[in-house]
Amino acid sequence: MPDSSAIPAFPQGFLWGASTSAHQIEGNNTASDWWYTEHDGSGLLTEPSGDAVDSLHRWPEDMDLLAGAGFTDYRFSIEWARVEPAEGAFSQAMLRFYRAMVDGALERGLRPLLTLHHFTSPLWFTARGGWAAPDSADYFTRYLAALAPVLSDDVEYVCTINEPNILAVFSHLKSTGVANLPHGMPEPDPAVAAGLIRAHHAARAQLREQHPRLKVGWSVAMLTYQPEPGAEVAATAYAQPRQTVFLEAARDDDWLGVQSYTRTRIGLDDHGQAIELGPPAGARCTLTGWEYYPDALGHAVRDAHRISGGIPLIVTENGIATDDDTLRVDYTAGALQALHAVMDEGVQVRGYFHWSLVDNYEWGSYTPTFGLVAVDRDTFGRRAKPSLTWLGGITRGANPDTVASTT
Ligand code: BGC
Repeated sequence: MPDSSAIPAFPQGFLWGASTSAHQIEGNNTASDWWYTEHDGSGLLTEPSGDAVDSLHRWPEDMDLLAGAGFTDYRFSIEWARVEPAEGAFSQAMLRFYRAMVDGALERGLRPLLTLHHFTSPLWFTARGGWAAPDSADYFTRYLAALAPVLSDDVEYVCTINEPNILAVFSHLKSTGVANLPHGMPEPDPAVAAGLIRAHHAARAQLREQHPRLKVGWSVAMLTYQPEPGAEVAATAYAQPRQTVFLEAARDDDWLGVQSYTRTRIGLDDHGQAIELGPPAGARCTLTGWEYYPDALGHAVRDAHRISGGIPLIVTENGIATDDDTLRVDYTAGALQALHAVMDEGVQVRGYFHWSLVDNYEWGSYTPTFGLVAVDRDTFGRRAKPSLTWLGGITRGANPDTVASTT
């Protein structure tokens, strides 16, 4: 295992966290569109989410583990389908629940970074046309207005929508599984993409007005397109609707979230069109089938910086699906070294959140394990993996005054 001290020092005040999302960890998200697909008899998803890892009841344990290891930040999401399970019917109990999570994080010394939409929508919203509907932004901003008690004090960073570029291909993805996307991503439906950008801009304006101290951004899946010689122009055109348009839409945001796992090699087909080549022959692949490529993070951050016009960046997801925790540490060490090198070039990066805090529901299957913490699927008992302690050691080095050592 690489020694924590081999990782170059990151600036004081850097956000060090891990990420989760509600549907993937809470369990029984029954009013959501994804839950519907899990149970609609289509068989598109290998497994339903069920109880997930029961973080609905065990979130204090999750936060204890994160804070105890030395982290200072936690990115988690608020579930729209719980807050507004039927159109216009807002749950005061769930608003209080999410406010309790914010307070619980702060009490443990964890700054919350809140995602307001992470892939799942209330079923009623999707049934009435989802993001492509002309009035989708109105429904989204009405939900955000209801979140005022959750967002009012002490929250600094919010992510309006997680990976809009992946969300925009959800209808295709239901037949392939999220895990297969980076190697053959269909082109997003332009009406959905436009609806998401409209909703993000409306959300940004409203949140800034209602909560002037919030820093508003969104997180884009960085596919790290790497053209083979001769495929440069085609790769740029290929990236435009799948990634670039969402980065350009962030130019007036307060920050931009970078989410990076691997790279996507682009070649040309017989008609000169861009095609995804998949991992090189013999490459090591992870449990999601993605190429093991820790350097992706450096490329992703550089691309995000260039296309967004240099706004502050936060790595809101980076990680690896593996049952070999030593490999997770190696991957993370490589990614952090690549990140540091880009920061040395002058790119402003404010933080790093590892995906994920806990092994969780990976959009159709529990097999790909991304967690720093393992969860027993029957008892929901948590067990910290060595990678949690290792990454916590790095965060303690960066924030020696703010956290207690667990060792
Ligand atoms: C998503 C997460 C997902 C992760 C690994 C991202 O696409 O934001 O929800 O679990 O990558 O696939």
